[in-house]
Amino acid sequence: MTKTYNIAVISGDGVGPEVVREGLRVLDAVSRIDGFSYKATHYPYGAEHYLQTGVMMPDGALQELAQHDAILLGAIGDPRIEVGLLERAIIAGVRFGLDLFVNLRPVKLYHEDLTPLKGKGPADIDMIFVRENTEDLYVGIHGFFKKNTPDEVAIQEMVMTRKGCERAVRYAYELARKRAKHHRLMLIDKANALRGQDIWTRTFAEVGKEYPDIHQEHAYIDAACMWMLKNPEWFDVAVVPNMFGDIITDLGAAVQGGLGIAASGNIHPGQAGMFEPIHGSAPKHAGKNVICPVATIAAVAMMLDFVGEPRAAARVEGAVAGSLASRRITDLSTSSGVPTPKYTDIVLEELHARAL
Ligand code: IPM
Ligand code: MN
Repeated sequence: MTKTYNIAVISGDGVGPEVVREGLRVLDAVSRIDGFSYKATHYPYGAEHYLQTGVMMPDGALQELAQHDAILLGAIGDPRIEVGLLERAIIAGVRFGLDLFVNLRPVKLYHEDLTPLKGKGPADIDMIFVRENTEDLYVGIHGFFKKNTPDEVAIQEMVMTRKGCERAVRYAYELARKRAKHHRLMLIDKANALRGQDIWTRTFAEVGKEYPDIHQEHAYIDAACMWMLKNPEWFDVAVVPNMFGDIITDLGAAVQGGLGIAASGNIHPGQAGMFEPIHGSAPKHAGKNVICPVATIAAVAMMLDFVGEPRAAARVEGAVAGSLASRRITDLSTSSGVPTPKYTDIVLEELHARAL
């Protein structure tokens, strides 16, 4: 019997609908090649929905999203609405609401011309970040005292729990074991200056006793940023607290060719995961047919792997890789002159060539 996957689709704001449309073209094509089907259910959450209804996500929305096999998200954010309000309600809302505790962010280079790093090629740049996704400075515990006075005080609390660290660390060890690279796992933190992060150091070491086959390394976030540019080949799997993970993976995106290719998955094994490009809604590029959909296509590949279609996932990733390695796609930026659907056309040609 044909397997059918239920996919919740949140196209969102700005360029979101354009990139999701292209991602779904690829999903559709690969489903035919690999013989599975899917049902996409679209949810309208985003700026327009909020402006019209006054509601970010209705009651029961999270439970409904959780019923699916996976969620595909375009982008969220709109200049008409207070900074961060939509992003916190919808992106962080789903991450926290569904307890998607891992944000998985691969950084892989498919052609040396795509990286700004001199003398580095695909053999040097192939790493994956496990960003903790439900704690840290992102829990939202903050406040202002004497607001708008010269004596104003602001706080934003960094919250870390043993359980939260442990599940991210364990996921990362398992991933390092599964990945056929160097079996190296690097903990990235700032436990020298932020002593609370000693909880990460201790958890990493304790859980690490169960993984003697994994080479365990440590770097402070500042040094890790420097090494990523100087010696990206040292990186295999890295586990990192939420805030630093947000920052270093944008650096990672630049190293692999920019936000036009960087994808991510928000995961809690056994539950519906959410897959998205790392880039935002880019309002100034919306509706102009200039946005590169390759990051969303790469997110579709991650989603396929997650739902249990590793062959289809490899096929889509291979098609992306092939499009870039062959230089049929040479530029992933909005100024490339390549119209949005043209990128997908090329990826689809590669995909069909792989289906023979
Ligand atoms: C990301 C984004 C989000 C984050 C924002 C939009 C809340 O930058 O997915 O990396 O900080 O996690
Ligand atoms: Mn980010």
